[in-house]
Amino acid sequence: MIENSKLLIMPEQEVINSIQGGKISVCVIGLGRIGLPTAISFANAGLNTFGVDINSDLVNTINSKEFPLKDEPGYEFIFKNVIKEKKFRATTNLSEAVSKSDVILLSLPTPMNKDNIPDYSSIISVGNQLHDFICKGTMIIVESTVEPGFIENTFVKILEGEDHKFVSGKDFGLGVCPETANPGHINNDFENLPRLVGALDEKTKIIITKIYSHVFPVEIIPMKDCKTANAVKLVTNVFRDLNIAFINELAILFERVGIDISNVLEAAKTKYNFEVHYPGPGVGGPCLPVNSYQLINLAKTYGLETLQMVEIGRRINESMPEHVIELLKDAFKEKGQDIENSNILVLGVAYKPDIRDFKLSPAEPIILKLKDLKANISIYDPFFKNQLVFGINTESDFLSAISKSDAIIIVTAHKEFHGIDPEFLKSKMRSSIIIDSRKVINQDHAKKAGLIYRGIGCGKI
Ligand SMILES: NC(=O)c1ccc[n+]([C@@H]2O[C@H](COP(=O)([O-])OP(=O)(O)OC[C@H]3O[C@@H](n4cnc5c(N)ncnc54)[C@H](O)[C@@H]3O)[C@@H](O)[C@H]2O)c1
Repeated sequence: MIENSKLLIMPEQEVINSIQGGKISVCVIGLGRIGLPTAISFANAGLNTFGVDINSDLVNTINSKEFPLKDEPGYEFIFKNVIKEKKFRATTNLSEAVSKSDVILLSLPTPMNKDNIPDYSSIISVGNQLHDFICKGTMIIVESTVEPGFIENTFVKILEGEDHKFVSGKDFGLGVCPETANPGHINNDFENLPRLVGALDEKTKIIITKIYSHVFPVEIIPMKDCKTANAVKLVTNVFRDLNIAFINELAILFERVGIDISNVLEAAKTKYNFEVHYPGPGVGGPCLPVNSYQLINLAKTYGLETLQMVEIGRRINESMPEHVIELLKDAFKEKGQDIENSNILVLGVAYKPDIRDFKLSPAEPIILKLKDLKANISIYDPFFKNQLVFGINTESDFLSAISKSDAIIIVTAHKEFHGIDPEFLKSKMRSSIIIDSRKVINQDHAKKAGLIYRGIGCGKI
């Protein structure tokens, strides 16, 4: 740590020298999917880094040199190295880590509650603690996804407190660098995706830009203010949520018309200004659905009743699990079998391929609906073997899982599921129904093998 954490009041060249000389200390609060790789990157750039988390099991795992994010390729080696070099250490002691740091990064969760209202309680709780523990001159950078205006209207007031012990822009710097990395590709994204920086004052913006330029080999783009930077993050994700909703709605229409939407999308991609999105059983994860509701919440805060398109997009995407069940019912009807008491295997519970995360996964509403239909449900997911997921003990062996099933619902397109041979399924399954919500199995091959196949956006053949 530099003496009395003077970053905000140092001349620019001295700031640069301190960063490049590895003289500044960094504290990353929240060591999850984003925070841990972030902390490792800062440590790997030569900066003494503390990681703070309330989860003591996670802190112990990290300090015992075990890398918890096995599904993030490229990090394990760097992680082991920065721990060995003593550049990075995890702790549950926020006050100690904060008081020894010049730069504080917040990578805290910003989920929503059961009524889809954004929940900023972690960030607010940490903000209150920072008010008590930061030193004069500290830089505070919010990487978490928050609504535009949250920093300016709420968070700065929490940090300054009623006593105005420290004032933003004079005693500490406050800015944002919204995280846009994609789970499963974080190492790659940290090396390639430009970063946006906003701040409440110009000096802070310059300092944050210098720090990130030292750590990440990407373009660092200074934005006009925090709310503009936060708006970009929401716009890019809500754009995806909406486009997926559009394609999901078309997929349902094309099933009726007898058009395979994947043929349409392949051809549409040849047009230079068409950006392809694919249909699926719903949109999950900690980002897209939440970000749409953050934008809707923002609209309400600013006096609009809602954001109609975003609201409709959410409604369509949230209705897709029900559509999966409709496809299942249709297939059971063709087979002349009852869903009640049948054995149904859900293949994949993660919200996206090849990662270990089922936050807001469409698998959950699908499983709830199957429970209502009194089916016997099993789950196989290579990232969740022998674990309790959505109240069900997951299977550990693919072959024994398919062997006892009457129907399979493919929810996640994990690599392991690509290339599943329909003839093999037909020969091993107890009955022969496949609901493929991700186009993992070729429909013609499935038909030829004698499977009863339904796919989102595939007409019956
Ligand atoms: N996961 C993603 O795909 C992704 C991508 C871009 C941006 N983001 C955003 O980044 C932020 C972090 O997301 P994440 O996916 O890494 O979350 P996460 O749930 O994986 O990790 C959050 C961590 O913060 C810890 N934590 C919670 N409350 C705490 C507190 N009071 N003090 C200290 N630690 C606390 C938790 O124990 C957890 O380890 C969110 O705002 C999210 O929207 C996430």
